[in-house]
Amino acid sequence: MRDQAEQLRQRIQQSTQKRPTKLVTVTSGKGGVGKSNFSLNFGLGLIERGHKAVLFDVDLGLANLDVLMGISPKKHLFHLLEPDTTVWDIMEMGPGHLEFIAGGSGFTQIMQLDDEKLDLLFNRLEPLQGYADTIIFDTGAGLSKESLHFMLSSDEVIVVTTPEPPAITDAYAVIKMLHSRNPAVRIRLVINRVVNEREGKMTADKLAMVAKRFLNLEIQALGFVSDDSHVTKAVKQQRPFLLTYPQSHASRSIRSLVGQYLQSSTQSDTPANGLKGFFAKLKHFIR
Ligand SMILES: Nc1ncnc2c1ncn2[C@@H]1O[C@H](COP(=O)(O)OP(=O)(O)O)[C@@H](O)[C@H]1O
Ligand SMILES: [Mg+2]
Repeated sequence: MRDQAEQLRQRIQQSTQKRPTKLVTVTSGKGGVGKSNFSLNFGLGLIERGHKAVLFDVDLGLANLDVLMGISPKKHLFHLLEPDTTVWDIMEMGPGHLEFIAGGSGFTQIMQLDDEKLDLLFNRLEPLQGYADTIIFDTGAGLSKESLHFMLSSDEVIVVTTPEPPAITDAYAVIKMLHSRNPAVRIRLVINRVVNEREGKMTADKLAMVAKRFLNLEIQALGFVSDDSHVTKAVKQQRPFLLTYPQSHASRSIRSLVGQYLQSSTQSDTPANGLKGFFAKLKHFIR
């Protein structure tokens, strides 16, 4: 009990320090390219570097971050609408101190909430502003309406693809849609399951070239993640690979990608509007 009270006190204190909170949506064109594994291990990589990351499962059909972490969340987003519930009540502590909010089937319902309930939900999520450095939304694949709303409202969208041509084509479709609807969103590429850096670079260059030529858009690759059987092993064990196989190729590539990410996230792209801005945009897109 004392521990809990202490934890709550610390959280409130951190939350009132009001550091900028960045909203990052992880998405892809094609399904099964490794978004959830990336979101999870990227979040853990940020934590390793002293950054506070909070992970949000907003995959509607196939929410499975909890399975990847081997936890069974007792609460999900919609419990926030119950009386006297705070955001701290619905957060789960995952492995490696990665805090996690389960979407449940909640995100389809978000669209159907009346204004009053929607405001209540958003107001109750707001203490996360300043508490987290980065909030990572793990979405489903493709251009579902809900995923699109999250992407359009975020500061940054990470598009995950593999080097396979169908995945690349679908990633391009997402980028095109996103850019045409909101050119202000920063888009970054992650090439997952590469056999070597050369393959990753070639894939990223291909996408960047097409985006430049047809959309006049510069996109940078954030980095590559190795194709590594340790990932599948970790999935079977329901443990994040970064924790279970810290020296594996996949873990090393995640760490180097996180380093790159932190280095390239300069003052200039410090989020201006944080969660408030995010919710305002989300509401606008939902309505
Ligand atoms: N870097 C990788 N190396 C090897 N296998 C991977 C890698 N990333 C993902 N996978 C495999 O792909 C499967 C799907 O990954 P997941 O993260 O659930 O994809 P998504 O969230 O995009 O549907 C994993 O269960 C794993 O077997
Ligand atoms: Mg997933």
